Amino acid sequence: MSDPEVVAVIAIDGPSGSGKGTLAVRVAAALGWHLLDSGALYRIVGAMAVRRGIDLADEAAVAAMAGALAISFESGRISADGLDLTDEIRTEDTGVHASEVAALPAVRSAVFDLQRSFRKPPGLVADGRDMGTVVFPDAGLKIFLDASAEERAERRYKQLKNKGLSVSLPGLLAQIQERDARDRGRAIAPLKPAPDALVIDSTSMSIEKVFDMVMDAARERGLGS
Ligand code: DC
Repeated sequence: MSDPEVVAVIAIDGPSGSGKGTLAVRVAAALGWHLLDSGALYRIVGAMAVRRGIDLADEAAVAAMAGALAISFESGRISADGLDLTDEIRTEDTGVHASEVAALPAVRSAVFDLQRSFRKPPGLVADGRDMGTVVFPDAGLKIFLDASAEERAERRYKQLKNKGLSVSLPGLLAQIQERDARDRGRAIAPLKPAPDALVIDSTSMSIEKVFDMVMDAARERGLGS
């Protein structure tokens, strides 16, 4: 068995809507590595707590529930305790609930080991808020992908419109700003670049350009070759 500590990790952190999820999927596919969408774990915890009528401010109850959940990522579907939550966890409401439960230290420690268990050969691309700062501080490459709140709201607006949903751009911008403030301002594992992160502002950059920059940085560090 190989030591999980020596399996290479690329950590991609950033605020919601920065494009880090899409980037992580593409980098993992290009390298043939595993993928951890850590935001999905917090989304599952938020969604399941709401389903079970647990008060999102009740730290002990939410953490106990999180620690006992059987979460599975298989064939592009995400489920918890046998319940398929793939679509439900992508709603704006679940994003807000995820951000709320993610601010609770006991919830973060309940999902810590689960996140680290994704580190398997040949490598892991992990995206979230604290992948490079807390969960995989020894990652071989750390990316902090940012974009202005206005640009991120615009991207989300287009995505939702394309799905045929009626949304308000100012409403989305307000929600993004509120979620940013909570994710950046919380006492535990706040969203911020690791000191050794490569910070990329994607506001006026295509996903292809960002992908190329990240793959170049990975090659320079001898990752995935
Ligand atoms: O990346 P996302 O939008 O799916 O994440 C949903 C929420 O989960 C986000 O608002 C903050 C929280 N989160 C976190 O605190 N730490 C992570 N590593 C990933 C997500």
